[in-house]
Parts: sequence; structure tokens; C-alpha cells
Amino acid sequence: MTKITFVQPSGVEATVEATSGLSLMEAALHNGVEGILAECNGAAACATCHVVLPKAVYDRLDAPEDHEEDMLDFTEAERQPCSRLSCQVRVSDDMDGMVVHIPGE
Ligand code: FES
Repeated sequence: MTKITFVQPSGVEATVEATSGLSLMEAALHNGVEGILAECNGAAACATCHVVLPKAVYDRLDAPEDHEEDMLDFTEAERQPCSRLSCQVRVSDDMDGMVVHIPGE
């Protein structure tokens, strides 16, 4: 299991145990993390699963596909350099201890 901490815009934190291979969005939903709505159920079509990753993690992932980039553009107000759609990010063992920020609306 991989421990991941989600930080709400308010600063409230929730640390969850995630199974490698699940998406980060699924890990959040399975553990009742607020702020990850996932309205399109992981189809990269809603951007309600937007998170900001640590730069070190962001840099070692494959770059977002074009459709993810397009959806992230809809979050323009909150988009940050390490923004990703959590439904497009797979949990891996090397993410243990990762802290993920959930942007404000
Ligand atoms: S769940 Fe809709 S874009 Fe990720």
C-alpha cells in the first residue's frame, strides 16, 4: 500500500492508503476524500479531479496527453505548473508519502 496525503484548499489533510495501479482519483474516491468529484468517472472529460502534484513526482510521470491538457485548460484559474487530472495518474509504490494538493474552486 502507498500512503498519499491529500490537502484541501483549507489546509485540512487526509492521508489514505492506495493500491498501486489504481488511479489517484480512485484512491481518493475509495477513501472519501473531499474535493475530488470525478464527475466523468475517469474519462478525462470533467476536470473535477484536478490535483497539484509534487514537482519531483510530476517530472517523472509521462507528460499529459492532449485531451488532459485540454481539460486542464478549463481549470485555468487554478492551474499550476504541476497540475494533473488525478484520474490520469496511476498510483505507484514510489509515490509513498506523497502530498497532493487539491486546488480551490
Ligand atoms: S474524473 Fe473527470 S477528468 Fe478526471
